[in-house]
Amino acid sequence: MCGIVGYTGAAPAIPILLDGLERLEYRGYDSAGVAVVDPRTGLQIEKCKGRLQFLRDRLEALPPLEGTVGLGHTRWATHGEPNDVNSHPHVSQNGRVAIVHNGIIENYAEIKDFLLQQGVRFRSDTDSEVVAQLLEYYFNDCSDVMDAVYAVLARLEGAYALGILCADMPDRLIAARKDAPLLLGYGEGENFIASDATAIISHTRQVAYMEDGEVAVLTRDGIQVFDEYRRPIEKQLHHIEWDVSAAEKGGYAHFMFKEIMEQPEALRQTISPRLRDGQVVFDELRLDDGFLRRMKRIYLVACGSSYHVGMLGKYNLERFLRLPVEVCLASEFRYSDPLVDEDTLVIVISQSGETLDTMAALREARSRGGYILSIVNVVGSSIARESDDVLYTWAGPEIAVATTKAYSTQLALLTMLGLYMGQRLGRTSPEEYAAITAELALLPEKMEQVIASTDVYQYLASLYFNRECVFFIGRNLDYALGLEGSLKLKEISYIHSESYAAGELKHGTISLIEDGTLVVSLATYGPLLDKAISNIVEVKARGAEVVALTTDSNRERLEKIATHILTVPDTHPVLQPNLGVVPLQLFAYYIALHRGCDIDKPKNLAKSVTVE
Ligand code: G6P
Repeated sequence: MCGIVGYTGAAPAIPILLDGLERLEYRGYDSAGVAVVDPRTGLQIEKCKGRLQFLRDRLEALPPLEGTVGLGHTRWATHGEPNDVNSHPHVSQNGRVAIVHNGIIENYAEIKDFLLQQGVRFRSDTDSEVVAQLLEYYFNDCSDVMDAVYAVLARLEGAYALGILCADMPDRLIAARKDAPLLLGYGEGENFIASDATAIISHTRQVAYMEDGEVAVLTRDGIQVFDEYRRPIEKQLHHIEWDVSAAEKGGYAHFMFKEIMEQPEALRQTISPRLRDGQVVFDELRLDDGFLRRMKRIYLVACGSSYHVGMLGKYNLERFLRLPVEVCLASEFRYSDPLVDEDTLVIVISQSGETLDTMAALREARSRGGYILSIVNVVGSSIARESDDVLYTWAGPEIAVATTKAYSTQLALLTMLGLYMGQRLGRTSPEEYAAITAELALLPEKMEQVIASTDVYQYLASLYFNRECVFFIGRNLDYALGLEGSLKLKEISYIHSESYAAGELKHGTISLIEDGTLVVSLATYGPLLDKAISNIVEVKARGAEVVALTTDSNRERLEKIATHILTVPDTHPVLQPNLGVVPLQLFAYYIALHRGCDIDKPKNLAKSVTVE
């Protein structure tokens, strides 16, 4: 989704803004732009549709844009097609203000009508332009830009992270936030705003997260922050721990591949501090035994791959806790009149911690009295801040749009949470608890074995990269795992793919199987191996080619019936998907590579989805 970076300091702003935008590219975008305040000539804007490189080329062909205060933006179109005019920054009619915006102004049509009646001329089809035009409209009537900013914010409905430049104030930029991420970066003689820390980490590690309703005024000497009533407030500063190299490719062809390879280490970081002497320990958790004992129901709420983690979590949590666990897509949950009350635990799963639907679901659950525990990767993100409890996955920054290491760490952490609660409630047998925690400790090492060689995935990709359709089938945990395998494949390779509960084949899907249909059969869940084998036989009998994924110990049984076989080391059945997902990620990766796809930035997708 849209990315914002803003700079005020002593250095020329354009190179800093372009560097920041490059680091935000991963969020997904279709156009890019920059604005600076030139003290002599006022606001200077350059923007265009397409990759950031087009903007760079355009800027290089022009006389340099001067200015040490500026804003950059990558746009992911919502209102108005991706084109040069609809790109941000948007400048007001008389050139007094320029803005960049992430989010959606829901009442833009009404504001636009009002401004049109006042004679304001619009250039773009976007919702965002109303902010620039309304700001100038109010600014023309008052001498104080902050009066104008607060007047505008009072009229806006919807979500926004805003960066504002004024031609009359060449030394400052203004930022405002409601329901869309924005942080402040504190440097030495320079200050920043950004959608996330990756954009500014090479300049400063000191950041503060803006809260809803806050407005910030940045000059090179400092940042003042005000609340929604315009009272000054002190922000708490956070130090970003991870290094800039964590958000760079470091010699790998793609972030996705790098992140797949980083999974063993990400798992180690997430698991080992929380596993002591065979016990799951969550020092950071506030959830008390009183709540656990009266807890009657659990909801797992998330979007995309995080939702698939929830699908797996449902099986495992019900097993450990013997309580009803429902897994819901956040976009459905928020409008479903959910059965949440004071005795409900709502586990919210989100890599970015900023997904708008997930955030809205969280607020819905909280308004009904639920206890909110979130599993989040980005420290200080909105979901983390609005939850009663947070467990962080220590996966480090994830840049590829298709998630890999965040998924793996979410899954491990959710399983650990289930074990922790099951033990506290005395509902998980000590033998099972001991067996799973022992295997948890070995998981990073076993995953290292899975990624040690990629030859087989490359070979399979060379066979199957030109398929039009791929089916994934599995039962129980393998069914939920198949959903993620199928999503990985379709999102980065654009091959149509579906995942089915294998037992449902006979109720319809099997009619789609014909000579040569590719079926990826997941058969890693030991307790249902015989059933998985029957399903492979069924589809093979109808002509399917079957790539079967199973465990080392079951290789022989599957070898006899599958067309090709992939294996992962054996672990406890509840942890098997943690290993099983890696071959599916690699399979999707190499297929997309063969097809020449833009793997890290698949078309139409965004890393952090901050609109509904
Ligand atoms: C986007 C990403 C997915 C991600 C989903 C949920 O669609 O492309 O990879 O799973 O959002 O994101 P979250 O940050 O809430 O986990």
